[in-house]
Amino acid sequence: MEGIKICQGEKPLKGEIKISGSKNASLPIMAATVLEPAEYILHDVPVLRDIKVMQAVLKALGGRIEQKGNSMLIDTRDLNSTEIPDYLMRKMRASILFMGPLLGRFGKVKVSQPGGCSIGPRPIDWHVKGLSQMGANFKESHGFLTGWGGSLKGKEIHLDFPSVGTTENLMLGAAKAQGNTVIRNAAREPEIVDLQNFLNSMGAEIIGAGTDMIKITGKKSLSGTEHTVIPDRIEAGTFLLAGAITKGEVKLLNVIPEHLESVIAKIREAGFEIKEEGETLTILSTGITPNSLDIKTYPYPGFPTDMQPQFMALLSLARGTSVITENIFENRMKHAEELKRLGANIRVEGKTAIIQGVQRLYGAFVESPPALRAGAALVLAGLAAEGETLVADIEHIERGYDNLVGKLKKLGAEVELIKISEEDKNA
Ligand code: EPZ
Repeated sequence: MEGIKICQGEKPLKGEIKISGSKNASLPIMAATVLEPAEYILHDVPVLRDIKVMQAVLKALGGRIEQKGNSMLIDTRDLNSTEIPDYLMRKMRASILFMGPLLGRFGKVKVSQPGGCSIGPRPIDWHVKGLSQMGANFKESHGFLTGWGGSLKGKEIHLDFPSVGTTENLMLGAAKAQGNTVIRNAAREPEIVDLQNFLNSMGAEIIGAGTDMIKITGKKSLSGTEHTVIPDRIEAGTFLLAGAITKGEVKLLNVIPEHLESVIAKIREAGFEIKEEGETLTILSTGITPNSLDIKTYPYPGFPTDMQPQFMALLSLARGTSVITENIFENRMKHAEELKRLGANIRVEGKTAIIQGVQRLYGAFVESPPALRAGAALVLAGLAAEGETLVADIEHIERGYDNLVGKLKKLGAEVELIKISEEDKNA
């Protein structure tokens, strides 16, 4: 098992790094290549475990993949299956995004209950409900869900909640449906805008992504295309906080500041200076102890749940008492226990965490919960803690961060990847 060792914390990070392409834009775009038998070229795709799982699913369906660095060719001209292998479904929830395109192209699909992070039950009832409204039939037996029913039909659909995955799955199913689809109360995340741009470059006709109403005119056929994925706003936010928590000066290249507006606002409210220049962001934190904050997570453009664990780490060292309320997921506070092992003073009551700021954190052995942003939060805390910190079980972090250790080293952190044998871990 792999770990990240922070040999010496409390070192201000200084320098600049390039932010990778967005994981959460890449995943639905890779699923979209199933819609039309064609060749597709993607650029700026991050090298991550989740991307590898997505590639494995495409190959299991009969697709062909060629990858060179952050560019990838996906050939879906010879797909020969509509069944997502169970062992891959369990690795990553985003495999569910193949439902819409497989129904859209073949009129059938077979999946099992998805896996992924452990931040709550994360059902797929809204995905099934929306696709059923478009004419698909579903049957569940022995943990498998089978969908069938010929080509989907355009429909006006009102989502119970602006679910990111549901919005994406319905866009993917509607792109080649018979007739027009309107998705109301749609999620507004930037990754959904990138998916719309990708689909439209394939010849689809979609407008409204980024607002709460998306209109899709179904097309008979689409075509292959080439696309560069948008930068990862959550990786960018994570590195801004790496600069803040170590009182350093960090410059990020390849960012879209408007995608981080709510995060930047909170970082400024905490007392830090952030400079926005074109596609760069610089955080200036020398000597600054953060102010306490009141944070509530909401769908975009509200404060993103994917930045909640990282802020909990920062606020562990704030002046005064902060309150974080998690409104998106039912169980996304597991990182609090591990932060307390580093000396944080946090009390979790249901979906609320009360964080009493402390003077210092102290290095320790901690284990990343099975949630990639929680792992990142522990690395941030370790960078600020006195002495040595070891974060174990980092395969979760590697699901969402491309070369985290390399980027931190470039900013002057004393970190290294290490192997921890099971017996050492359980000694
Ligand atoms: C996407 O997950 C992201 N993942 C998540 O990022 C992100 O935290 C989340 O959106 C919210 O922004 C990808 O894009 C691959 P949802 P998704 O559907 O689509 C409930 C990361 O760290 N729900 O908006 O699964 C669900 O349980 C990951 O990169 C239902 O009840 O999120 C959750 O409580 C973590 N029924 C809430 O809605 C459904 O059918 C929001 O889920 C679907 C969802």
